[in-house]
Amino acid sequence: MNMTTDLASKLRSGTQQAHSNAEHTKFMTRFLKGDVDENILGKLLGNLYQIYSQLEAELESHQEHPIVSHLYFSELNRKTNLEKDLTFLYGDSWQEKVFPTPNAQIYISRIREVSATQPELLIAHAYTRYMGDLSGGQSLKKIAKAALDLKEDQSINFYEFSQIPDVTQFKGKYRDALNHLMIDETLMNQIVQEANLAFNLNIKMMGDLA
Ligand code: HEM
Repeated sequence: MNMTTDLASKLRSGTQQAHSNAEHTKFMTRFLKGDVDENILGKLLGNLYQIYSQLEAELESHQEHPIVSHLYFSELNRKTNLEKDLTFLYGDSWQEKVFPTPNAQIYISRIREVSATQPELLIAHAYTRYMGDLSGGQSLKKIAKAALDLKEDQSINFYEFSQIPDVTQFKGKYRDALNHLMIDETLMNQIVQEANLAFNLNIKMMGDLA
């Protein structure tokens, strides 16, 4: 059966308010003004390291899943890039210095929980993070590079997608994959609801850093 849905546009319109809330957090407002230093960036990337480690492990564990497997793109994986950034910021013993903040722990628990109980909802978590990193994340990269006074050949690896030469094209491919999932209306609504929760978990996690 060749089925298509409008999940991609449902996700976009259904999380529009949550996106606006995330964009206007104290943390993001300061970040956009270039008010970001190594300390705060280290805390953010430390949280994201824990979050992506969990998310990517769960997505990988469902590679045989009839639905979740279609939204696994290894070129999106952030864990290795985050390890490089944390080594740069904290040195070789970064593992001893990086701990998830309380709301990052709640976020991680939710990812673990949906993976165990309703893995289809991991799609909402992947969408919220990766589409964000490919979108606003690309502006945040430039801001962070300037604020940290990085050299031309240095970057925040977290925001670099070296295996995705054309981000716009890739986002189109990702939306197509969302629209081709074999899912019904009920599950679509649950995924949109879970994406809203994912935005709120991000907002709370950023609140720990401000
Ligand atoms: C200051 C912070 C942010 C800015 C400036 C920003 C900006 C943007 C822009 C311009 C787009 C549209 C890109 C396009 O249509 O191709 C976008 C999309 C998106 N952003 Fe953000 N964003 C920010 C924060 C966040 C945060 C914190 C998250 C979630 C953790 C997030 C998640 C997303 C998602 C999921 C999309 C894709 C929407 C869709 O087309 O379905 N963004 N962002």
